[in-house]
Amino acid sequence: MTASPLQTADHGAVRVLTIHRPDKLNALDQATLIALHEAFDAAAGDAGVRVVVLTGSGAKAFVAGADIAQMAALTPAQAREFSLLGQRMMRRVERMPKPVIAMVNGFALGGGLELALCCHLRIAADSAKLGLPEVTLGLLPGFGGSQRLPRLAGRAAALELCLTGTPVSATRALELGIVNRVVPVAELEAETMQLAEKLAQSAPLAMRAILDAVQVGGECSLDQGLEYESAQFGLLFSTVDAREGMQAFLERRKPAFGNH
Ligand code: COA
Repeated sequence: MTASPLQTADHGAVRVLTIHRPDKLNALDQATLIALHEAFDAAAGDAGVRVVVLTGSGAKAFVAGADIAQMAALTPAQAREFSLLGQRMMRRVERMPKPVIAMVNGFALGGGLELALCCHLRIAADSAKLGLPEVTLGLLPGFGGSQRLPRLAGRAAALELCLTGTPVSATRALELGIVNRVVPVAELEAETMQLAEKLAQSAPLAMRAILDAVQVGGECSLDQGLEYESAQFGLLFSTVDAREGMQAFLERRKPAFGNH
């Protein structure tokens, strides 16, 4: 039996997904892409999970890219399917109804950076290296990197990373707005879990509306986005959590949010 390329562990309401192909620096082959898609479907549908943390196994890599050994044998038609498989999975992550944090513990290259980009938040170890080296293989990023990186960091930064293929340090990635935080590698897990646990205390339906509004807003006109925001704002007033949140403020106590 082949070992699973993905490990799952629950810490309260925080689900940690760890890509586990350390001997291949967690490279994304077809089986790993499918396992990730299934794992995110499961996390989305599990009411006990409020936050997902995604990381890579071992001290060296988050994910060192799509699996080049597997890709090298693909026909053009198969390559397109492989790209679509990765894109569908990453879109699933991006459209998750609960926050997904990428804990970037080392190399995040090619498909690895693309995977981090579709997560909602990124915390990187100071030792991490991030880049899109596909051009050095005669390719372009095929899991959404050519689309998400310019939207996140602007065209200038995206073109520099895509055209040179040269990875940047975590600190430079922070300057470019690619990651949210850089922390010493020894503190990466504690800092990430602290953030995840904080989010797990937050109102799930409000977070879902925020994730939706920000995502939808990035893909439509400002007027459409504002209309969507108002609709979501109104909708949240039908939730017990919004009543609880406002009431708790007025009563000067800590709110207790459910998922309703
Ligand atoms: N696909 C498949 N296998 C990969 C891989 C990838 N993207 N990245 C690393 N590996 C494998 C290596 O082939 C090696 O396997 P082996 O021991 O069976 O030969 C193992 O992981 C360790 O990698 P190695 O290259 O020996 O480590 P290193 O420390 O010398 O270099 C990197 C680390 C990340 C700089 C280097 O592995 C690399 O450049 N990887 C490819 C990055 C890339 O181009 N990604 C985009 C793909 S679209």
